[in-house]
Amino acid sequence: MSDKSIPVITLDGPAASGKGTIAERVAASLGFHYLDSGALYRIATLAALKAGVSLDDAESLTAVAEKLSPVFKDGRIFLEGEDVTLAIRSEEVSAATSRVAVIPGVRCALFELQKKAAQLPGLVADGRDMGTVVFPDARLKVFMTATARVRAERRYKQLIGRGETADLEALTADLEERDRRDSKRETAPLKPADDARILDTSDMGIEEVVKKVLTWWNDAQ
Ligand code: C5P
Repeated sequence: MSDKSIPVITLDGPAASGKGTIAERVAASLGFHYLDSGALYRIATLAALKAGVSLDDAESLTAVAEKLSPVFKDGRIFLEGEDVTLAIRSEEVSAATSRVAVIPGVRCALFELQKKAAQLPGLVADGRDMGTVVFPDARLKVFMTATARVRAERRYKQLIGRGETADLEALTADLEERDRRDSKRETAPLKPADDARILDTSDMGIEEVVKKVLTWWNDAQ
């Protein structure tokens, strides 16, 4: 089935802009599937780190991505039988992932896995290039932004809430560095699609953002 016959909503934006939470809620509300494309890049990165592959070795990183067969089950992610749900969210993996994601071979290997996620009754996909590269025919494209400080504060609260330690300055610097790398790369850089709706969530709560996206979706029908 072509992209056009399956309803797709894309939610792109910088790190920690809240895309995942919003995408999951919108998907649940519409009864659609949900694709967390960042998780695929994170899984590829974790697999490479585990295999001792250097982050500068594009060829070996591509080979790791090509062999990847993650299993998503009951909200958990398994890699070769191991539950990696939490491991892929560590700060170490987060920082390494934006380095791995610049490699065209890795992006190409993960492209098909992402395309396959478009299934009826519909898909909400979040990432960096969902609207520009992976699902260019999506019926609704949203590009979510928020200042690096606001995003770092949200991440800070999340980590503290989980009982972890966190440093707001370091988180802000890390997010700015990831944004820079994601925006400046040659292949599929982070940028809004020409037909994307821009949503600055700096002063918005989760419910408000979900409502806005659902309103846009209804308007797009
Ligand atoms: O969305 P999340 O923060 O989990 O993504 C982790 C990293 O994966 C991003 O910083 C980015 O480098 C990469 N990514 C990407 N393209 C996507 C999704 C994520 O390059 N569609």
